[in-house]
Amino acid sequence: MFKHLVKVRLHQQKRSLGYVLGIETSCDDTGIAIVDTDGKVHANVLESQQEFHTRYGGIIPPRAQDLHRSRIAHAYERCLSEANVEPSQLSAIAVTTRPGLPLSLLIGLRFAKHLARKNKKPLLPVHHMEAHALQARMEHITAIGYPYLCLLISGGHSQLALVRGPGQLTLLGDSLDDAPGEAFDKIARRLRLFVLPKYRLWNGGRAIEDAAKSAQNPNAYDFPRPLAQQRNCNFSFAGIKNNSFRAIRMRELLERTPCDGVISNYNDFCAGLLVAVSRHLMNRTQRALEFCLHPHQNLFGDAPPTLVVSGGVANNDVIFANISHLALQYNCRTYRPSKGYCSDNGVMIAWHGVEQLLHDCANNLRYDYDNIDIAGSEGFSETAVERVAEAAIKCKWVQPLPLQ
Ligand code: KG4
Ligand code: ZN
Repeated sequence: MFKHLVKVRLHQQKRSLGYVLGIETSCDDTGIAIVDTDGKVHANVLESQQEFHTRYGGIIPPRAQDLHRSRIAHAYERCLSEANVEPSQLSAIAVTTRPGLPLSLLIGLRFAKHLARKNKKPLLPVHHMEAHALQARMEHITAIGYPYLCLLISGGHSQLALVRGPGQLTLLGDSLDDAPGEAFDKIARRLRLFVLPKYRLWNGGRAIEDAAKSAQNPNAYDFPRPLAQQRNCNFSFAGIKNNSFRAIRMRELLERTPCDGVISNYNDFCAGLLVAVSRHLMNRTQRALEFCLHPHQNLFGDAPPTLVVSGGVANNDVIFANISHLALQYNCRTYRPSKGYCSDNGVMIAWHGVEQLLHDCANNLRYDYDNIDIAGSEGFSETAVERVAEAAIKCKWVQPLPLQ
């Protein structure tokens, strides 16, 4: 009982540590935010480069770097003034250092070092995918306790991990080729959805989700079932992508679609694609759930089984509904961050910094600024990918929900 009281008191003390500034520049969004140790967001400035990159059909790293460089100081000033916070009030500056586009990461880290030196504040280096994985806790801290299973789906990654705390993630499955967001973006571009005024400035995943809502026949196209023979939790979307390119080309030839036009039944195509992607994500997540729940592993321990879906693709309501439906068959609750926080933003980096403070990661507070560097790619602290493959769990697949 006494022990419990001490724990509660400690927890309360920790949750009043002040403000953390978060800086995110790993890809094409300049995000700067201030979050306090109670998880309250005081400012969230996000400058997207989407409009520029859409025009060029993809991200050009040196250009992304220029845009970050020209925008970051202004984004910071806006952030401080929106939050009405002085730099002296900051407890720490959290900054993405890995993984990401090196040229983009560099801008955020250099700026963070400049602020840290000027204001004599500690830096907290943050792993971008870990920040996605912890973000849902900011809004559901009592419901999502450690450990939990996390499905990370974004433009650069597709991963399953057991999350045991900040800096303590065990990888269960990883992408072998394209990430789901990347596949959506490339297929949407190949479909030329951007010629439709509504989708001109939307990312590919969002456009495909919207187009699928008007489908007449979601079974009009066939899609492969990737890695069906491999009893692990890895992901592959290259087959679905290449198959999509072929199917679109065939349809264009059949319909004599002009080179600035879109095939007539693109809605049906998008619906079938969404189901195929959902199914693959469901299958791999199902095996990961069975692995975690297996009495030999018992990876959730005494905690109620919990699944978090995060990353830009977690914005997708069809995918989230399908994953939640799957988890329910295992009495597992599913959460995702609010829509604004699924995609890249500064809040998730600041929140990861808060998590580090809450979990006494005092060694992580760095004043040796010169020793901190970026790392374009870096994995999690532990991997169980081989162990999952060795377990070779055979599942009775839960099927995707019918599209509404
Ligand atoms: O996490 P994120 O913002 O950036 C990376 O770290 O990659 O994810 C961006 C990805 C893009 O590929 C985009 O197509 C996808 O998230 N995305 C979606 C949706 N909204 C964004 N994919 C499916 N459905 C959506 N509604
Ligand atoms: Zn991301």
